[in-house]
Amino acid sequence: DFTRPPLVHVKGIPLIKYFAEATKLMKDFQAWPDDLLISTYPKSGTTWVSEILDMIYQGGDLEKCRRAPIYMRVPFLEFQCPGIPSGLQSLEKTPAPRLIKTHLPLSLIPQSLLDQKVKVIYIARNAKDVAVSYYHFYHMAKVHPDPGTWDSFLEKFMDGKVSYGPWYQHVQEWWELQHTHPVLYLFYEDMKENPKREIQKILEFVGRSLPEKTIDLITQHTSFKEMKKNPMANYTTLPSEIMDHNISAFMRKGTTGDWKNTFTVAQNERFDAHYADKMAGCKFTFRSEI
Ligand code: PPS
Repeated sequence: DFTRPPLVHVKGIPLIKYFAEATKLMKDFQAWPDDLLISTYPKSGTTWVSEILDMIYQGGDLEKCRRAPIYMRVPFLEFQCPGIPSGLQSLEKTPAPRLIKTHLPLSLIPQSLLDQKVKVIYIARNAKDVAVSYYHFYHMAKVHPDPGTWDSFLEKFMDGKVSYGPWYQHVQEWWELQHTHPVLYLFYEDMKENPKREIQKILEFVGRSLPEKTIDLITQHTSFKEMKKNPMANYTTLPSEIMDHNISAFMRKGTTGDWKNTFTVAQNERFDAHYADKMAGCKFTFRSEI
C-alpha cells in the first residue's frame, strides 16, 4: 500500500514523499531552450492553462488534444508514483517543443531551466480559494497525508506545512523572477473574468498567432464545463487508488470566491491578519483580496 505517506522535507520544503525522491533525480535534467514551463502553486489553474497551451501548440486541433491525458501531454516534472511513468520519464519521450508542468518553489527548480532561459507561465490564484480547493484535493489524491479537519488543514496551510510549502513565498518568488527571466504572470481570477483576453496574452508570450475562430474554439474547449466532462483533461483516467473521484472530483467547482462557503467568520479574520503580515512586502496586488 503506497497511499498517504507523510510529507518529506527537501531544502526545508515539505513535499509528497515520491516527489521528494524525484527532486533528487533532477540534478542532471537538461532543459531545452524551446521548452515552456507552466508553474503554479497547486490548485491555481495548472490544468486549465495546460489544456490551453496544448490547444495552441496543436493549432486548435481537438482530435490531437484527445491523444492522451493531460499529464502525458504536459509532463509533470516532479511527478513520481509507484506503477506510473514518472515526469522525467515522460519528458524523455516528449518531442520538442515541450510543455512542462511544475509546482516546485523556485529553490527546487532544476538549474538548467533557468540557464536555458526557458519561458515560464505562472498562474496565481486567491489564497483562500487555493486553500479550500487543496483541502478537497488532499482528500481525493491519496499521495497526500490525511488532511484532518478543515480547521487543522487551514492552520497547516497558513504555516506552510502542506505539500510544496508556503503559498505566500511561492507567489512572490516567482513574481520576482520576472526581473531576470521571461515570465508571463497570470491570475486565475482574470482568466475567469475574460478567458479569451488571457489566451491572447499567452499567444503573444509564446510568439504565435491563430485565427480568431481558433481562439474562440480554444476558449470554448477549455471552459470548466467542457474540461469537466473531458476524460483527457479531468484526471479520471488515473487509477482510483491515486485519485478517488467518488470522494471529490478533480474538476470540483471551478469558480472564484468559493472560500466563502467554507471559511467561518473567525477563520476569515485570523486568515486576513496572518495574510497581511505574510504579504506585507508583496510587490503586486491580488485584486481578488476580498
Ligand atoms: S493541480 O492538481 O494543482 O494541478 O490542480 P490545478 O489544475 O492547478 O487546479 C485545480 C482547480 O482548478 C479548477 N479548474 C478550472 N477552473 C476554471 N476553468 C477551468 N477550465 C478549470 N479547470 C480546472 C479545478 O476545478 C480546481 O479548482 P476547484 O476550486 O477545486 O474547483
